[in-house]
Amino acid sequence: MNKQERREKLIRKREQSLLGGGEKRIESQHAKKKLTARERLEYFLDKNSFEEIGAFVKHRSTDFGLDKQHYLGDGVVTGYGTVNGRLVYVFSQDFTVFGGSLSETHAEKICKIMDLSMKNGAPVIGLNDSGGARIQEGVVSLGGYADIFYRNTRASGVVPQISAIMGPCAGGAVYSPAITDFIMMVEDTSYMFVTGPNVVKTVTNEEVTSEELGGASVHSTKSGVAHFTAVNEIALLDNLKKVLSYIPQNCEEQAPLVSYELTDETRSVLADVVPESVNQPYDIREVITGIIDEDSFLEVHKDFAENIVVGFARLAGRSIGIVANQPAFLAGVLDVKSSQKAARFVRFCDSFNIPLLVLEDVPGFLPGTDQEWNAIITNGAKLLYAFSEATVPRVTVITRKAYGGAYDVMNSKHIGADMNFAWPSAEIAVMGAKGAAEIIFRKEIQAAADPEQALLEKEQEYAGIFANPYRAAERGFVDEVILPEETRTKLIKAFKMLENKVDTLPKKKHGNIPL
Ligand code: HXC
Repeated sequence: MNKQERREKLIRKREQSLLGGGEKRIESQHAKKKLTARERLEYFLDKNSFEEIGAFVKHRSTDFGLDKQHYLGDGVVTGYGTVNGRLVYVFSQDFTVFGGSLSETHAEKICKIMDLSMKNGAPVIGLNDSGGARIQEGVVSLGGYADIFYRNTRASGVVPQISAIMGPCAGGAVYSPAITDFIMMVEDTSYMFVTGPNVVKTVTNEEVTSEELGGASVHSTKSGVAHFTAVNEIALLDNLKKVLSYIPQNCEEQAPLVSYELTDETRSVLADVVPESVNQPYDIREVITGIIDEDSFLEVHKDFAENIVVGFARLAGRSIGIVANQPAFLAGVLDVKSSQKAARFVRFCDSFNIPLLVLEDVPGFLPGTDQEWNAIITNGAKLLYAFSEATVPRVTVITRKAYGGAYDVMNSKHIGADMNFAWPSAEIAVMGAKGAAEIIFRKEIQAAADPEQALLEKEQEYAGIFANPYRAAERGFVDEVILPEETRTKLIKAFKMLENKVDTLPKKKHGNIPL
């Protein structure tokens, strides 16, 4: 079987493997068909908008018989086009050419569109399907990846960069996406790992499947590497277009505005979301959907660190980024992963002029050896740093608990929030009333004839002073105590008032976020 026949066989094998079997496949709306590199671009970009660059490029290798194997374009389709009329630069790797592996010339093609994107201020979208550096080329392919990593880093914060993972990606094919802003994966057919299962078996003797090692479910729940997953390629590309609709073309521009006419913005549904009891959970997404424009929430990192919810939304047609504690999961506590998740999102929004709304109901940081040994100190500080550094309009609504250090961290006025609202149900204190009473009245409680009753009384005393938003409002740490149902109105006005905000950081080369 010659090379061309093997290539055709590989295409057939991949198509067949993705069309059959499995309950999930039957449930899914679209067949799990893998598209070719060009079909992906055709679906993703506006009709007839694609202009290819470098279609005639061929690799320059001669070792291992490569001088006899040339494919026009060298395994990657590159160029530019539009999505909903807005310019994007794209590359789409072709796994059927040397496993989509990256040669020197393949890298040059990607670098060319990245350079154009920087000069012209438009996003770079990578449709990745690659076995990493082309092994036959040795150091020149490694150099090619380094050229891309360098550009990914230089472009970070200048133009949005989004990586769609459409097949098995290894080595450099995962490190470049890792530097980009968002990673999207297709369930069951895309994988990301630094080294594949065969290498894992050789080096560590560990038997693991591609799915277990680096499938979409692993990266969207355990590692947090993937921000979005989709049931198939079509759904992923649709979601990618949706993400683009919330973000600007570059760091100098604003996100697209959707037309919206103000009417009565009162939302009575918000009045009943927070339960009477402080320890009863509720889903913060109910608050989010009650506040934002209808059906406008696009959640990021949905299945990772679920104790915090982050995502894009629109408020009276404007893009905003939302960071919200989730009382329905681990009581909304801040821990290592949730701090990392939120910090990264805050920094994306700040890089690209997307105002931030914070919904706060947080009992504090999660205590324990697991957290301390996994550096909750450093990781919690990431979120503190990210908020403190952000210069976009920032507004906080405290719905219930704002306890301890987490009060400071969750976009408090002290670290630069522009407006801070609290619902009447807010409790702003160093800790919950019971814990506080146990510490500060320990001796009195122990000496009491009825310690249980004494604890209850002291708990009530502490709660009477701090289990409300008014102490904080007295100091101006809360600007206004508002009713839940008027929250949307207040936020629309606040963000409108802040739309021309100018804030600059002290002159520096760059800060040193605790990584
Ligand atoms: C050249 C490659 C290749 C590569 C795959 N192929 N990876 N050719 N260089 N890196 C070729 C295969 O030889 C095969 O060719 C065809 O692509 C399909 O590959 P399969 O193995 O049959 O596909 P599959 O079973 O789906 O497995 C996909 C895979 C696996 C998991 C990606 O191919 C794999 O493990 N590849 C090597 C990954 C790797 O170690 N890359 C180098 C990383 S170093 P034929 O002709 O047989 O069809 C790196 C450095 C960057 O990237 C620096 C990082 C900081």
